[in-house]
Amino acid sequence: MERTFLAIKPDGVQRGLVGEIIRRYETKGFTLVGLKFVKVSRELAEKHYDVHRERPFFAGLVEFITSGPVVAMVWEGEGVVAAARKLIGATNPLTAEPGTIRGDFGINIGRNIIHGSDAIETAQREISLWFTEEELVGWQPHLAPWLH
Ligand code: TYD
Repeated sequence: MERTFLAIKPDGVQRGLVGEIIRRYETKGFTLVGLKFVKVSRELAEKHYDVHRERPFFAGLVEFITSGPVVAMVWEGEGVVAAARKLIGATNPLTAEPGTIRGDFGINIGRNIIHGSDAIETAQREISLWFTEEELVGWQPHLAPWLH
C-alpha cells in the first residue's frame, strides 16, 4: 500500500494547527501509520532538503526547520502521495487555493506550515530518513475487530 511522509513544520506547531491538519487526513480516509514529535537535528534537516542544497533559500530553510518542534508523520492509502500534496496546496501559500492547508492558513513561502513528499520514490526515501521500521505501525482500519 502506498505511503507518504508529511511533517508539520515549526510554524504549524506554533500556530496550533496540529489537530486541524491531522483531522484533514483522517477524515479524508487515509490511515496513520507513524507519528512523532521531534526537534530536528541539523544533520537530518540537511539530508531531508538535500535536493535544495545549492538554492539560495537552503540555509534559511534548514535554520527554520531546526528552530522548533516538528510533527513527523507517515500516512497510508491508495494514491496518498499525490492526494496529500493536493490537500497541502501550492508551495507559496499566497497563491495556494483556498481549501488547501497552505491556502487556508499561510501567507509566506518560508513559513508554509507543512511538508509533503512530492513523489513515491521521494516518500520512500523520506520515510526511511525520519522513521525506523519499528516506529511504523501497519494496520487496516476496516478489518479492526473492535469496529462495528
Ligand atoms: P519545494 O520542494 O520546492 O516546495 P514544496 O514544499 O511545496 O515541495 O521547496 C521546499 C521548501 O523550501 C518549501 O516548502 C519552502 C522553501 N522555499 C523557500 O523558502 N523559497 C522558495 O523560493 C522555494 C521554491 C522554496
